[in-house]
Amino acid sequence: MNSSVSGKDNPNLRRFGAFQGIPRNAWYVAAGREEITTEPLGRSLLGKPVVLYRKTDGAVIAMYDACPHRGFPLSKSKVVGDHIQCRYHGNVFNEQGTCVEMPANPNANISKNMCVTTYPVVESWHWVWIWMGDPERADPALIPHFDCENNPAYDHRFYSPLGPIDCNFQLIHDNLADATHTSFLHEGLLDDADNAEMALAEPLVERLDETTFRVTRLMPDFVPNEDVASLYHLRTGVRYIRRLEVWHHLPSLLTAFNRYYEFTGESAEGEPAMLAAEHITTVGITPASENTSYHLTAVSSSFAQSEADKDGLLYVIGQDIEAFIALQSYFEQHADVAVEVSMASDKLGLLTRKIIAAMVEKERA
Ligand code: FES
Ligand SMILES: [Fe+2]
Repeated sequence: MNSSVSGKDNPNLRRFGAFQGIPRNAWYVAAGREEITTEPLGRSLLGKPVVLYRKTDGAVIAMYDACPHRGFPLSKSKVVGDHIQCRYHGNVFNEQGTCVEMPANPNANISKNMCVTTYPVVESWHWVWIWMGDPERADPALIPHFDCENNPAYDHRFYSPLGPIDCNFQLIHDNLADATHTSFLHEGLLDDADNAEMALAEPLVERLDETTFRVTRLMPDFVPNEDVASLYHLRTGVRYIRRLEVWHHLPSLLTAFNRYYEFTGESAEGEPAMLAAEHITTVGITPASENTSYHLTAVSSSFAQSEADKDGLLYVIGQDIEAFIALQSYFEQHADVAVEVSMASDKLGLLTRKIIAAMVEKERA
């Protein structure tokens, strides 16, 4: 064993078991849009308690989830109009986090310290995004957009916030960047009838900017088995051209375009003409803390989605989550001996680690 990669006191160890820190100057998915109502929602994000609620005009407010008086959670309090009123002693905070009323001390001056930090939020497509780093740098233009967002012919659905899951968020990125596991961990559920097409498809990797890369896999003669046909609304036993295009927006979002074209028998190099089905999975990957994470899934599709479709996909995601928890538990319990031996197919997972590590380093510097 190479001692440079193991041992509790080894500073390199944090590079194993994937976790290397959490970039803070980035947009993360705080919730699905439909999760936020005029009832306050509490969520642990990037190691901090956050409360989210909607104002009367529908705008989303996010603030630190503790009253500055005695720390009572505002998520267990009451939204009153556009403000939030602490349920413990009644202090009222406006949407800027400023205390505007202290009903238990009506004649006292309100201290300027009686205020709550608020965070920039943006609603976009399925998501409510939050920025918890330097607010000066919270540029909404950094949030990724895709043409399909506004396609009225598509069925757009938020599936679920899963979590907090007992794993660091890098383990989720590792998994999502690794197409080879789909042929094994999800045996028979996401691949073709022979069950290894995905693992063997050569990826085309394009680095789009400092924190984004796109991976395209072409499977020019793809025959879905029953489960795959059911999930993507395809015909069983029929040949398709499958094109899987995955955008990795680090450190927080993955968008996977699964496109199935009618098989023409022609070269797969040109864009095939007839789209049979498109299924777009987006996953928000949000650290709840250093060792817990949210996995937020939404799907847009060219066909109407049923409850069975949702259950099918959540079953697959459940298999991933089982793996994340097992890996986290292993690296936590056996940090003194744990090692990883990477393979060529880990290239993209390692790229996500490299990009996230660079973001963390940049912020430390
Ligand atoms: S804890 Fe909120 S007003 Fe006292
Ligand atoms: Fe998976």
